Amino acid sequence: MEQGQLIASHSANVRVRSHRWYTDRCGFSTLAACEDYCGSTAVPETPSMLKTMDGAPARPLGLAAHPGQTSRCVDMAFDSGVNYYFFYGPSGKGVIDGLNSLVKKHRAEVLIGCGSGSRRADGLEQVRHRLSRAVGADVLDVFFAEYLNPDDDRGTVFGDEGVVATLAEWRHRGLIRYVGATTHDTAIALACLADPRIDVVMLRYNMAHRRLGRIVFPEARRGRRSVIAFTATRWGTLLSGCPEWRAAPPTALDCYRYCLAEPAVELVLSAASTVEQLTANLPALKAKKLGTKERRHWERYGDLVYGSGKGRFEMQWP
Ligand SMILES: NC(=O)c1ccc[n+]([C@@H]2O[C@H](COP(=O)([O-])OP(=O)(O)OC[C@H]3O[C@@H](n4cnc5c(N)ncnc54)[C@H](OP(=O)(O)O)[C@@H]3O)[C@@H](O)[C@H]2O)c1
Repeated sequence: MEQGQLIASHSANVRVRSHRWYTDRCGFSTLAACEDYCGSTAVPETPSMLKTMDGAPARPLGLAAHPGQTSRCVDMAFDSGVNYYFFYGPSGKGVIDGLNSLVKKHRAEVLIGCGSGSRRADGLEQVRHRLSRAVGADVLDVFFAEYLNPDDDRGTVFGDEGVVATLAEWRHRGLIRYVGATTHDTAIALACLADPRIDVVMLRYNMAHRRLGRIVFPEARRGRRSVIAFTATRWGTLLSGCPEWRAAPPTALDCYRYCLAEPAVELVLSAASTVEQLTANLPALKAKKLGTKERRHWERYGDLVYGSGKGRFEMQWP
């Protein structure tokens, strides 16, 4: 295959590979040479860690449940190449129903992410059974320990018989494939990254909420750990603009692309509530990576609107 062809076929997946990937596979002598060729501002990043059962890496845009969402979103997302689906619990009916029919034919091609905020082994077990049954899959791909926060007893979460130990044991028994954790707290996020039992962390990250990422992402990159970003649109509010911002406000697509420009972020969740929204967001799967200038542009906007979103919740967990 010619170098150009390889890049052209690769452009369907704009996740930027490692320097070594480029130099070995594409024949570029330096990453800079590759960047010149692609016209992208490539940054070496964590290679995709999450893989479907048939070995395909997670695609950069995942579909997340949203109340009132139609299950058609799942079919449409799958047909467009989305392979990661997330729902919090039974309320994610659109995604659950969509997955339920999808897994009958395509189980090995999709990653199912869900989880529980329970801190007890029996509570976790009940949720796993319920969610497994709901989507019709014996094995769940990623199971998250949810809402980890400073009020948690550390032993209850990280101890030998705690939440993480329970999930790691499930992984060992083949009941789940990856152990996940989600938190808004920087110290807990760092503890999760340092815990070898945890495969993936899910964190709030967007144009306005960059503070946690500033501390946590370098660690994630160093440890080559997967990060899933959520609240890319900051509960949809980033799309509204603000009086001090004279330029156009970001679209949802801009918000997802912003998150994906962070090298530690393996995929970003989109909780598109309609088929029309999903259609507008799907180009994130293939869009060229944001350049530094565009990134800075959106960060200036994020700085302006920071603190105007969800009151104390937003400010308490920056
Ligand atoms: N948000 C949180 O604090 C939080 C915390 C933990 C987990 N989660 C979970 O994470 C998942 C992702 O949620 P998220 O908040 O991160 O999703 P998101 O994709 O950042 O936001 C989804 C919202 O953005 C708006 N939107 C998306 N695409 C749009 C488009 N093309 N045009 C116009 N508006 C568009 C919609 O608002 P409208 O509905 O107003 O149209 C939609 O409800 C969900 O399953 C959620 O349960 C969220």
